[in-house]
Amino acid sequence: MIIKLAENYGFCFGVKRAIKIAEENKNSSTYGPLIHNSKEINRLEKDFEVGLTEDYKTFKAGDKAIVRTHGIQKNELADLKKDGIDVIDATCPYVTKPQQICQDMSEDGYDVVIFGDEAHPEIKGVKSYATHGARVVTTVDELESMKFKDKIALVAQTTRKVEEYMEIANYLIPRHKEVRVFNTICNATFENQEAVKQISKKADVMIIIGGKNSSNTKQLFSISHDNCPNSYHIEDENDIDYSWFKDKVFCGISAGASTPDWIIQNVVNFIEKGVK
Ligand code: F3S
Repeated sequence: MIIKLAENYGFCFGVKRAIKIAEENKNSSTYGPLIHNSKEINRLEKDFEVGLTEDYKTFKAGDKAIVRTHGIQKNELADLKKDGIDVIDATCPYVTKPQQICQDMSEDGYDVVIFGDEAHPEIKGVKSYATHGARVVTTVDELESMKFKDKIALVAQTTRKVEEYMEIANYLIPRHKEVRVFNTICNATFENQEAVKQISKKADVMIIIGGKNSSNTKQLFSISHDNCPNSYHIEDENDIDYSWFKDKVFCGISAGASTPDWIIQNVVNFIEKGVK
């Protein structure tokens, strides 16, 4: 069986940056998981004494608090800064951008619409920047019952599918006088998505590696599954069942933006061992 990695996969710029920041700040704590990968978080704790705090109110003056890649809510950031805590911001610049857009557009009198998952930390953070509130939607159906002013600003969660974002924009544009559409989907997402689309068209079996909570990994899995029904979302090699590879000729591999290279390599080694 041929095993091949997608042309682009794994860690993106924002995650590499956040991990570097964490490694440079020993004895600190991240507020919420730095990235969506528990194994990498354990490594940072073991090798760099970077802890994890779920409640930002437990930080005390003098503590070092790292803000995770997906960002936090505006009021939480303000509280942290106020309390004499050393705040180290590892928010990805591609997340800071929609936060800023929401704030500016909201203050300029636009109704802000966010295409994304309301329960996702990134979107909770982004929404908090819309001074006069924002509506979060995932489908056109949800928009049908909503009333808007004439001016709408539209942003998307960084990891969303561009085709679905366009459906939202296409619905809003003919119905309102002014719709400002901001492309806040990040390049890393485009590149990994395009690469998984290409390889999954050729593969007999696809392995997508990433945290079960990782939204961009779920997106990669969904694209892969559309082209290759034998697609599997795994966290690491322990989730693999060798029967998946029986009579298969070409195995494609991709990984979410928070999946470290050492996990990907373990998966490749494990598959190679079992199919020989
Ligand atoms: Fe940032 Fe995009 Fe990665 S938003 S954290 S570079 S997937």
